[in-house]
Amino acid sequence: MNERETLKINQLGHLEIGGADCVELAQKFGTPLYVFDEAYIRKMMATYRDTLKKHYEDNGLVLYASKAFSCKAIYRIADEENIGVDVVSGGELYTALQAGFPAERIYMHGNNKLDYEIGEALDAGIGCIVADAYSEIDKIDAEAKKRGIRQKILLRINPGVEAHTHAFVQTATTDSKFGFSISDGTAEKITAYAMTKENVCLEGYHCHIGSQIFEKQSFVLAVEKCMDFAAAMKEKLSFTLKTLNLGGGFGIWYTDEDRKIPPEGYAEYLEALISAVKSKASEKGLELPYLLLEPGRSIIGEAGVTLYTVGAIKDIPGVKKYIAVDGGMFDNPRYALYQSKYTPILANRADEENTEIVSIAGKCCESGDLIAVNVALPKAESGDILAVLSTGAYNYSMAMNYNRNKIPPCVLVNEGQAEYIVRPQSYEDIARNDVVPQRLQKKTK
Ligand code: LLP
Repeated sequence: MNERETLKINQLGHLEIGGADCVELAQKFGTPLYVFDEAYIRKMMATYRDTLKKHYEDNGLVLYASKAFSCKAIYRIADEENIGVDVVSGGELYTALQAGFPAERIYMHGNNKLDYEIGEALDAGIGCIVADAYSEIDKIDAEAKKRGIRQKILLRINPGVEAHTHAFVQTATTDSKFGFSISDGTAEKITAYAMTKENVCLEGYHCHIGSQIFEKQSFVLAVEKCMDFAAAMKEKLSFTLKTLNLGGGFGIWYTDEDRKIPPEGYAEYLEALISAVKSKASEKGLELPYLLLEPGRSIIGEAGVTLYTVGAIKDIPGVKKYIAVDGGMFDNPRYALYQSKYTPILANRADEENTEIVSIAGKCCESGDLIAVNVALPKAESGDILAVLSTGAYNYSMAMNYNRNKIPPCVLVNEGQAEYIVRPQSYEDIARNDVVPQRLQKKTK
């Protein structure tokens, strides 16, 4: 645990993140609470950015995949670090723009962008749209024409690389709602189609092979397939590849079953991709494309922990011991969705040995509302502060109000000091949009 970049155990035996004592954070802000270490986020953004600079003559841009964690402050950090962002909805686009993020460094994704989202993107002057349907190309073309512009687009293609990850997050196999397959010829057809459109400017391709992947070879293979495809399109359609977007997907350290990669270690992944692009370009006689990368989880995942307070404890002899916390699937639905594994730590007794195997349960009315199953902990008691590690990605962004629980607030730690970046929800916030039609209103006698 001590080897983790963001965490340490202080003299009081308390867990610290980014120099802030988790027990103090829990006292000050309450639980459940998402906590983010700004230094780690910046270090990860800088690692990718500087690797492109050093090994690819700065001929590219790192895009933070903001689906992993989206709020105004994160777009400010990405802007200050001089990287771009990837958004997948009008809501993410709106948040980025509200934060003052420069539109030209925003790339828009989605397998079914709505008409109004395309309109909003064009109105904002967004850098590039990654198109994933014929109908989208038509809409972008028509909207661009109305505005008298040519909109840059990429096409999402599917290199058919099988990555070793949870099936639910595997997005580049042939049976996928994402992309057009290279192998069955559909990627070629849509390339030819996009090239006929006057108000779209086809810059190149995008691929994303999945998420939480550690095998470098899967990424390299995807690059090779995309470059081979680009070479084939040059020959067949005289298409010039200007931009290649390699998506995200690098894995992070959730539990000791995962690889432990220090921030600098991610540079090696990018270097492997860069060298695959370079060698394919020289083999096929292609110009080096402008390179984009879209890491989400690896930038924000290990930067975050969630703090809970232990409540009810239920020991079912010979079956399981449940430690219930004041959060659950409403702040972290990843066990319920993917049986994801996490590492919990008692933040107020982080120096104690683990002595028992327990399961961490949430407070929702749902048996599957679990955070971690069969994990080692010291003997937990009601009132202990439980920290769940590596919850920075796809936790807050996937949180919900199930059972009308309040989505926890987020705080950002900078040099040991924490402040809100997402304020606590109130019950009023939860019920804000409820309407009681006149005929159902409570009659006063
Ligand atoms: N680019 C595209 C087009 C993507 O679809 C994704 C993730 C990324 C970039 C960022 O990938 P990352 O570096 O974060 O792995 N909710 C799931 C993860 C879904 C990821 C979807 N796409 C989870 O909680 O594991």
